[in-house]
Amino acid sequence: MAGGGRAEPRTGRLPADLTNFVGRGQEVGQVKHLLAGARLVTLTGAGGTGKTRLALRVAGDLGRAYADGAWLVDLARVSEQGVVEYAVAESLGAQAPVVDYLRERELLLVLDNCEHVLDRRCPCRLPTPRFRQP
Ligand SMILES: Nc1ncnc2c1ncn2[C@@H]1O[C@H](COP(=O)(O)OP(=O)(O)OP(=O)(O)O)[C@@H](O)[C@H]1O
Ligand SMILES: [Mg+2]
Repeated sequence: MAGGGRAEPRTGRLPADLTNFVGRGQEVGQVKHLLAGARLVTLTGAGGTGKTRLALRVAGDLGRAYADGAWLVDLARVSEQGVVEYAVAESLGAQAPVVDYLRERELLLVLDNCEHVLDRRCPCRLPTPRFRQP
C-alpha cells in the first residue's frame, strides 16, 4: 500500500440508505464469504429483486476492511464498452489510466448496472478485466 499522503478521500463512497435494509441475512453472509475467496463476485437476478441493495449492504459492511474503502460505480449511463474505464475513473476521482490508479490501491468496487457493457463472448467478464488485477 502506498502511504497516507494522498489528497483524495480514502474511505470510499457509497450512497446513503434512504430506507431500512430488511432481511437478506443469508445472502449478505454468502456474498461476504464469496468475497473472502474471490476477487470478483457477480450478483444476478431479475430486475428489482434487490441486487444493488444487497451489494451496497455488503460493501457498506466491508468497506473498512479495505484500505481505500468501498466505492459504487454506476454504469447505467455508460453506452459503450470503451468508456467503462473512464466512468470508473470519474466515480473514483481518478486520473485515467485508471488501471494504474487501482494498482496502487486496495478497494472494493461495486460495478452496478454493467450487464449492457459485458463482453458477450464471456458473460462473466467485463471488457476490461484488468480493472480487477492488482
Ligand atoms: N433488503 C432490502 N431491504 C429494503 N429494501 C430493499 C431491499 N432489497 C431491495 N430493496 C428495495 O427494492 C427496490 C429494488 O431493489 P434494487 O434496486 O436493489 O433491485 P435491483 O435488483 O438492483 O434492480 P435492477 O435490476 O432494476 O437494478 C429498491 O427500492 C430497494 O431499496
Ligand atoms: Mg440494481
